[in-house]
Amino acid sequence: MVLLRNRKPGRIATLEEYKASGGYKALERALRELSPGDVCAMVLESGLQGRGGAGFPAGRKWMGIAPDAPKPRYLIANADEMEPGTFKDRVLLHADPHQVLEGMLIAGYAVGASQGIIFVRPAYGRIAEILEREVELARRANLVGPNILSSGFSMDIKVHRSGGRYICGEGTAQINAIMGLRPHPRETPPRTTEKGLWSLPTLLHNVETLACVPHIIANGPEWFKGLSRSPSGSGTKLYCVSGAVSRPGCYELPMGTPLREIIYQHGGGLRQGRHLKACLPGGASTRFLSPEELDVEMDFEGLRRIGNRLGTGAVIVLDDRTCMVKATLNLIRFFSRESCGWCTPCREGLNFARELLERLEEGSASFDYPEILRETARGLCNAYCPLAPGAAQPLESLLDLFAEEVMDHIKKGGCPMKQPGQQRG
Ligand SMILES: Cc1cc2nc3c(=O)[nH]c(=O)nc-3n(C[C@H](O)[C@H](O)[C@H](O)COP(=O)(O)O)c2cc1C
Ligand code: SF4
Repeated sequence: MVLLRNRKPGRIATLEEYKASGGYKALERALRELSPGDVCAMVLESGLQGRGGAGFPAGRKWMGIAPDAPKPRYLIANADEMEPGTFKDRVLLHADPHQVLEGMLIAGYAVGASQGIIFVRPAYGRIAEILEREVELARRANLVGPNILSSGFSMDIKVHRSGGRYICGEGTAQINAIMGLRPHPRETPPRTTEKGLWSLPTLLHNVETLACVPHIIANGPEWFKGLSRSPSGSGTKLYCVSGAVSRPGCYELPMGTPLREIIYQHGGGLRQGRHLKACLPGGASTRFLSPEELDVEMDFEGLRRIGNRLGTGAVIVLDDRTCMVKATLNLIRFFSRESCGWCTPCREGLNFARELLERLEEGSASFDYPEILRETARGLCNAYCPLAPGAAQPLESLLDLFAEEVMDHIKKGGCPMKQPGQQRG
């Protein structure tokens, strides 16, 4: 175990415990022995891919901030984590907050940032308090603030509490939110590494991505790459397993661990007497996978090869009692509620998709509904930001994989899995 090595039941690892496990040695090494360019090169070589969902190579993002780029520069740790089924950042920050702080400081040194911000969702109020306390302890230990470890490098860290919408997790919307603007996504280019917070260079990463950084600097890029089980991946991955499994939880495993192993070995398999019907491999914005696809390697490339996405690595398992129309409706209700309303295909399209699915469940759908739903899903892909195309993923896979079940809802006048006497809706 790498990222969760200091995880303890019921409490966080203290600064002393983190240091005793080798913590802040990588920061010291970076500040004393490595130039910012060396650090960027190591991260690039390690193959670290962003863990926030898209898998963009972290080193390439860092290289996007040129040495002569304007100052001040900013670094944001994205702890918004509102993707359904995803709770890995919460686990990481509760287990070992200094690991994330150290990752932020090293990344800040590499790109010349003088201000770090941790963007925390309101449901994680306790985490925000823990972070404020631990940042203060780090400040007193000369690990945060001016002239860190007498190296001449200075960087402060602040905690920012989100207003609490899913879209605030999207990088450009998050930047607007921090500036007190309406949190709708911004057009790119320019990338946030060129024009981010207050139009200045800003590096934005997911919490898990930043937590990997100290280990790359301490042990080297080759070591980090070698942690992965698949040649296309690198490092370990925090997989969140939830739904119809015996042992739901957050498991740190080599990147590329087969999905079957994650569900049956680590997640304990399906609950007694149940069978797997489908699963989402990476949160709500991914396609349903069928039981035949369980041998997929859970890394960014492995899922891309089968037309899916690793997303956040949040595996949501559905058993044979699940109505797939209802499961999709549940997801679309979430997306429709969380649409920021900025663009029409998403604002209108998601509401429309929700209504169609509700009618399917209630029994007032007609035979043209599957085609209308498919057309609606296509329309979602014309939206301004990836929220709506993400929502189209489970919807389209419902129509591809469970066409018969959808048709049954129409023929039988409602959900065929509903027990007699059970309430509708
Ligand atoms: C609707 C939406 C919500 C998102 N929410 C999060 C989030 O909660 N946390 C996160 O790290 N990334 C989230 N992202 C991805 C971010 O836009 C961004 O790509 C990511 O934080 C970059 O970090 P990484 O390079 O470490 O992956 C979201 C994206 C979209 C479209
Ligand atoms: S796709 Fe949705 S969330 Fe994104 S800008 Fe358009 S309305 Fe807002």
